[in-house]
Amino acid sequence: MVEKRNQLNHLAIIMDGNGRWATKQGKPRVAGHYEGMNNVERITLAADQLGIKVLSLYAFSTENWARPKEEVAYLMNLPVRFFDHFMPTLMENNVKVNIMGYLDELPHKTYDVVQRAMAETAQNTGLILNFAFNYGSRREITTAVKEIGTLIETGQLTSDQITEELISDRLMTAGFKEFRDPDLLIRTSGEQRISNFMLWQLAYSELAFSSKNWPDFTKEDLQEFVSDFQNRHRRFGKLDETDS
Ligand code: IPE
Ligand code: IPE
Ligand code: MG
Repeated sequence: MVEKRNQLNHLAIIMDGNGRWATKQGKPRVAGHYEGMNNVERITLAADQLGIKVLSLYAFSTENWARPKEEVAYLMNLPVRFFDHFMPTLMENNVKVNIMGYLDELPHKTYDVVQRAMAETAQNTGLILNFAFNYGSRREITTAVKEIGTLIETGQLTSDQITEELISDRLMTAGFKEFRDPDLLIRTSGEQRISNFMLWQLAYSELAFSSKNWPDFTKEDLQEFVSDFQNRHRRFGKLDETDS
């Protein structure tokens, strides 16, 4: 019997370990963020070549504001550097940029650059490059619950009309439609936790962990994780012929 290989439409990555990468080399932590940014470019192109439809990258969490002021400032400036440098390649490759997170809390310059990146690539029809920036999943769910509460208060909805679909539709991934839930989540740096990333959307995602820090994670590593994923047995709670 030929085993059915899983289709990888939505890949999510928790890009962790930039600071440790830098410290190991005797460099300041921000040098790791710079190298991490360069790796985003490499991995985006590799993901595109693998036929992935949505690549979600966790770049800054709602909890990361608690880091030292200088590090936060550096991270807030990375989108400016990234899009300045990478926009022509994104256009050439038909990549559509999306940024999910609480964007109106970003510094003006960062806000402007991410809005511009989304506007300039809005007509592209290839890979969706989705950055989670000032994103936190509990807050995302809380926002959705509040919105639903308002709809009920104003008589536009009744509580028995609340469905899983309705909740999914209120999350920041709603625009990805049938691809809104990641098929595979990879976290680098050896940590094995979710850190407030896509809690709802990851319900049936396959999870994979790399011991490499993000700047060291290569295209070949990605290919290995993807082929491992393709051969996994995803059950979604059911049984099938291979279980008997
Ligand atoms: C991931 O690397 C990037 C962000 C969270 C912004 P870290 O900065 O968390 O690196 P480590 O985990 O401290 O090594
Ligand atoms: C998760 O990494 C957030 C990002 C990669 C942007 P953290 O380094 O912030 O997570 P914890 O603190 O180790 O859980
Ligand atoms: Mg970390």
